[in-house]
Amino acid sequence: MSEELSLYSRLGGYDAIAAVSENLVGRLMADPLLGRFWANRSDDGIRREKQLLIDFLCQSAGGPLFYTGRDMKTSHKGMRISEPDWSAFMTHVNATLDHFGVPALERGQVIAFVESTKSDMVEAFSLGRRTRAKWRKPNRSCDMALGVYSAEAISIEIPPTQHVRCLQNSAP
Ligand code: HEM
Repeated sequence: MSEELSLYSRLGGYDAIAAVSENLVGRLMADPLLGRFWANRSDDGIRREKQLLIDFLCQSAGGPLFYTGRDMKTSHKGMRISEPDWSAFMTHVNATLDHFGVPALERGQVIAFVESTKSDMVEAFSLGRRTRAKWRKPNRSCDMALGVYSAEAISIEIPPTQHVRCLQNSAP
């Protein structure tokens, strides 16, 4: 197919991009590391997010759609997406592109576009220093707001894989 066509057209237009988005989000939600980002969200919230993802990808690929969602930095800030999360995410992007047999040229362009958003998604944070600071304070003052402090320390200290294990253990 001619390279003059938009990436949107070469990928197969709206229906193809919607099918890719659906497949990708299903894989992300089922992933033991990434599933925590979609835990306890309403069905409608997830439907809304899928539609926004479709619109965003269609518009970014040059399609006749107008994305009405938030920018990538605003919508992902505070989720604490880490480097391992990003690697797992990209593994699923590749698996989805394999699933649909996306040709090499378009595949490379999709991957390059997704990678171009990485700096808006992945947040740098230090586990050790913040955790120690949180623990030192109640010990020094003997003001036992320990419930609060331990909750904060745990949420910072436990690596993502163990978070998932905690979520799985607490599932009914
Ligand atoms: C590890 C990587 C990622 C994770 C864990 C993740 C997770 C999420 C979650 C949980 C939401 C819902 C936010 C909310 O309702 O407040 C969301 C929204 C969204 N994500 Fe991601 N995301 C990732 C990467 C990406 C990438 C690479 C793209 C696009 C190339 C993308 C596009 C979007 C869009 C368009 C929305 C909707 C924004 C809005 O609500 O206005 N995400 N993401």
